[in-house]
Amino acid sequence: MTLTPAASLYDFILAVHIMAVVIAFGFVFALPVVYMVAGKHDPRSLPILHRIEYTVERLIINPALLVVVAAGIYLASDGHHWSEFFVQWGLAAVVVIGALVGSVMIPAAKRAEEAARRDLADAGESDFQPGAEYQALVRRLNLVGSGLGVLVLATILFMAVKP
Ligand code: HEM
Repeated sequence: MTLTPAASLYDFILAVHIMAVVIAFGFVFALPVVYMVAGKHDPRSLPILHRIEYTVERLIINPALLVVVAAGIYLASDGHHWSEFFVQWGLAAVVVIGALVGSVMIPAAKRAEEAARRDLADAGESDFQPGAEYQALVRRLNLVGSGLGVLVLATILFMAVKP
């Protein structure tokens, strides 16, 4: 009979690392569908959706990123991975993600909420006409949001493949 070794602390921290990645980023990949449906079927929901977006970024994504980094530091130290490319990439990715979420995504979503509220108030009972400011903010959110999505997927690839 062969005995399988019990899972080590390293394995549990690896699971925590991956759970935090899912909790941090799962939501953002569904956002394009959320906004597509809202824009088509209920544009009056756009302001609250932008508010939900930046609240999730503040209350879920930023704290979960801290857990990703803390668990990653444990894994890199315990597993002696500090000199490997995927760890350095991971650290740089976390800094870029944190900086862009804090300095672009949250402020742009706040301003988009306000702009959408103004445009909806101006439209009154007629159809929602997104103004120039709202459109520019949504373009910025889409551009930076897509870049962040690609960066997250590339980081998962590098973490798993360890080139
Ligand atoms: C956005 C940031 C990050 C994402 C999405 C991410 C994702 C992942 C994933 C999915 C794994 C599992 C790979 C596997 O077991 O095959 C992993 C493992 C790992 N990550 Fe990260 N990670 C991130 C940041 C970091 C950071 C900042 C560090 C170090 C400071 C780090 C260090 C590690 C280490 C050492 C492993 C374990 C490798 C192993 O034992 O196989 N990660 N990461």
